[in-house]
This record gives sequence, structure tokens and C-alpha cells, in this order.
Amino acid sequence: MIRVISKVREMQGASVAARARGQEVVLVPTMGFLHDGHRELLRRGRALGDLLVLSVFVNPAQFGPKEDLGAYPRDLEGDLKMAAEEGVDIAFVPTAGEMYPEGYQSYVDVEELSRHLCGASRPGHFRGVATVVLKLLNTVLPHKAVFGRKDFQQLRVIERMVEDLDMPVEIIGVETVREGDGLAMSSRNSYLSADERRAASVIPAALKEAREAAAGGERDCRVIVEKVKKIIEKERLAVIDYIKVSSGATLEEIDRIEGDALLFLAVKIGRARLIDNLRLA
Ligand code: PAJ
Repeated sequence: MIRVISKVREMQGASVAARARGQEVVLVPTMGFLHDGHRELLRRGRALGDLLVLSVFVNPAQFGPKEDLGAYPRDLEGDLKMAAEEGVDIAFVPTAGEMYPEGYQSYVDVEELSRHLCGASRPGHFRGVATVVLKLLNTVLPHKAVFGRKDFQQLRVIERMVEDLDMPVEIIGVETVREGDGLAMSSRNSYLSADERRAASVIPAALKEAREAAAGGERDCRVIVEKVKKIIEKERLAVIDYIKVSSGATLEEIDRIEGDALLFLAVKIGRARLIDNLRLA
């Protein structure tokens, strides 16, 4: 049986008790509406420790005023069903008022890593992410926390925060889980109509082209970005936000592929803003 906890103090108590019993505590933070990408994180988490905690919280602090906070899909019943299937011990499901009570005013800013890529199009987004993840880590007190590499910038921001603030937790990154056509699974894929979903397969098709170009020896990032751009532009339902090759360490844009280069993109299709990334070197 899964124990559902909605209060911060109760969650801290459960974790402190588990730690006192010598249990290894693992956290998988999510915004719910779970899909097979989240399932993979839960499976990894289950194998990593003794007390597996799933958090489900649609975090208002990481949504801009014109973004999809109100429309964000929710299905707590379905989430708890998947959690039970994957052996979750505790689902931590706080309200917005529990996380950000009256008078709340403390935020964390991971300054440089948050500026690039999605940070440029979504001001304040990573400040909201870093803040809520810090709060979740302080509440669940895990030894390990599991995140997806689909949100690579988010993963880097969290790794940096944990290092900078000397937080005693290990951050684990999990490879992106994809649909049959290669589209990265995302709760936001549910916004896509049938036509838009078909159009979205242009993203994995473009990533494949980039992978092949890099594997074939292409080192000029402009050439690779142009190839990707051309493919995506052919799809009339797709609107490009950015396509960039950047360093995985600093997330700064680079000209030539060497070291840890990744291709990053954000594309809007209908109401959905879809992101993906691909390691090129
Ligand atoms: P959410 O979008 O629900 O994602 C929760 C976790 O699942 C993140 O670590 C994300 O990278 C991972 N994930 C999503 N799709 C994935 C896929 N296709 N393959 C592998 N992992 C995937 O990311 C958030 O929520 C929030 O920003 C959060 C970290 C919970 C803070 O509010």
C-alpha cells in the first residue's frame, strides 16, 4: 500500500524514521500525469534504495504568467496506480499552499546555467525549478534523487545547486524514454491533436539527421544546426524556439564539436512547447 502524504512535516518525519532504521531513501520528483519516462525513473529509483518516494506537485513557481499552469494535465488516480505498479512506498502530494504558504519569499538562482537555452525563453523558470527541488530535497531528505536527461538543462541546474550549496544528496540522471517514432515522452504531448502529433515526429527525424552528420565527421555546429532547422521548417505546424549546439558542462553555445557537445532544441507545435537534446560527442 502506498502511503500518501500531503504535509511537509509528516514527510520529513517519515524520512527521518526511515533513515533511523538504516534505510536508503530515494526521491523521484515529478509534476504528475505520469508516462513511461517517469516509469523508468521510478524503476531506477526502486533499484537504488529502500524507501522510494514519488513527489507529485505542479509547481506554480516554474511557470511564467502566460504559460500553461492552469492547463497542465493532472491525473492523480492514474499516477498512484503507476506508483503502486512500480513499488513506490510514499507519494508526497502537497498543495501549493503547503509549499508556498502566505509570506513565502525565498528563492534559489543558479545564475549562469539558468541563462541559456530554455532560460532565455522562460525567464524565472529555472529559479522556480531550483527552488522547488531544494524544498523537495529538504522535505524528503533522500540519499539519492532521480532526474531525466530529457530536461538536460534542468538536470545540470540541479547538479550545480547541489554542489554549490553542499547538499548531501546524490543526483542520478536517466536517459530519455521515447515513443516508437523517437519523440521524447512528455506530459505535454497530451496537448497535441492527431495532426500535431504526426507533425511532432519531425523532431526525432531532425535529431537523427544531426546524429548521422556528427557520426559522419561533421564538426561545424552551424552546418548541423542548419540541417536540423531545414527539416523542422518543412513542417508547417512546427515553430522553432531555438536550435543550438552547446557544451554539456556550461550550456554555452559552441562553434565546433569537441568534448561534450549536445544539440538542444525547443519547438512549439500547437499549444505544446517540446524540448529535446542529443549528445553529439
Ligand atoms: P516532469 O516534467 O513531471 O518530469 C519529472 C522527471 O521526469 C524529470 O526529471 C524529467 O526529466 C523526467 N522525464 C520527463 N520525461 C522523460 C522522458 N521522456 N524520459 C526520461 N525522463 C523523463 O521536470 C519536472 O517535472 C519538474 O520540473 C520537477 C523537476 C518535478 C520540478 O518541479
